[in-house]
Amino acid sequence: MSDKPKDKKLPPLFVIKATIGLRNFLIRIAKKMLPANFVLLEEASSFWKAKSIEVAAQLNIPDLLEPGPMPVSKLAELSQCNEEALYRMLRALAGEGIFKELRGKTFKNTSLSKALLTKKESVKYFVMHHLGTNNWDLVGDLFNCVKTGENAITHKFHMEPFEFLEKNPEKNVIFNKAMTETAELSGSIFVNAYNFGQYKLIVDIGGGQGHLLSQILSKYKNVEAILFDQPHVVTEAKELLKRNGVESRCNIVVGSFFDRVPAQGDLYILKNILHDWDDVRSVEILKNLHAAMLPETRLLLIETIIKPNNKPSFGKFIDLQMLIGTTGGKERTREEFEKLLNDSGFKLKRIIENATPFSFIEAMKL
Ligand SMILES: C[S@@+](CC[C@H](N)C(=O)[O-])C[C@H]1O[C@@H](n2cnc3c(N)ncnc32)[C@H](O)[C@@H]1O
Repeated sequence: MSDKPKDKKLPPLFVIKATIGLRNFLIRIAKKMLPANFVLLEEASSFWKAKSIEVAAQLNIPDLLEPGPMPVSKLAELSQCNEEALYRMLRALAGEGIFKELRGKTFKNTSLSKALLTKKESVKYFVMHHLGTNNWDLVGDLFNCVKTGENAITHKFHMEPFEFLEKNPEKNVIFNKAMTETAELSGSIFVNAYNFGQYKLIVDIGGGQGHLLSQILSKYKNVEAILFDQPHVVTEAKELLKRNGVESRCNIVVGSFFDRVPAQGDLYILKNILHDWDDVRSVEILKNLHAAMLPETRLLLIETIIKPNNKPSFGKFIDLQMLIGTTGGKERTREEFEKLLNDSGFKLKRIIENATPFSFIEAMKL
């Protein structure tokens, strides 16, 4: 299967922002009109919905329903579940528009449940990573994280988060697939939101299995690239680059960004990397990039930017994931990014927003 980006027909950014603003406004109005106790009770019960979504994904229920509607008895047989228990869970999800219940305890997919199919541009593994037993236990440790500031992996398993993944290959597989999915979802938007074609050599530092680079190289035929990440992470990168017909323009280099990174790039990308690390470690990474870069080389951070307002934001909750699952990692404000960059010998040039929650923060050497 080719991983070439499909050009998404998205509405203009201002329409997306206005729609989200309107949705948030209506939600706030509805919450003000109902008794606060009811509202909070409902919000505090949302974990049932979240966990049920994950269990449905893990059981491959959307895949089983892909050929067409199916009675729960058959679904239970195919997924080796208790029929009554499975029915109760699917009925609850159907109430939320995730699956639809038809007559005779028969279910069919909806557009929401189809987002969990095992296919490209799905969120199946992201859901399984976030809500699977491992992360579920870590979220359960939030109280201690908030009390002490210590992350849950170190608290429970006495090791660093990335060391934990390295030592647990089955969890590493789900984590990598989750990263792949988010890269696929956002990558096709990114390649149209920034002119990567202006660079000859792009280096993606901590670029995972090379999804972003695959999408960039597919669109910009004059560009060459280096994918840099840890050895146990890039295992499937070669195959992916090959499937996209871009392997001849991409070198895979393994190593640690705490030691040194490849030189000679015209653009260095750090996507969702600094949010894994505290300020001291982030400056260490940035200084290593600085040492490899020429005066005219550009740096592109791709991260969520926390805004100082009281509005709901994906970044503010992903920040809690960073709290439980990284050593001092966090989502940052514009000022915090500016300080990190300045402390490492860079200046922030501009911020470019796009239809995803992740902004481009373009920087160059001071
Ligand atoms: C949150 S993931 C982001 C992956 C990719 N940039 C993306 O956005 O899909 C963080 C990445 O940093 C990599 N990483 C962690 N420690 C590293 C190190 N010391 N040197 C190089 N890469 C590292 C991980 O292997 C992982 O691929």
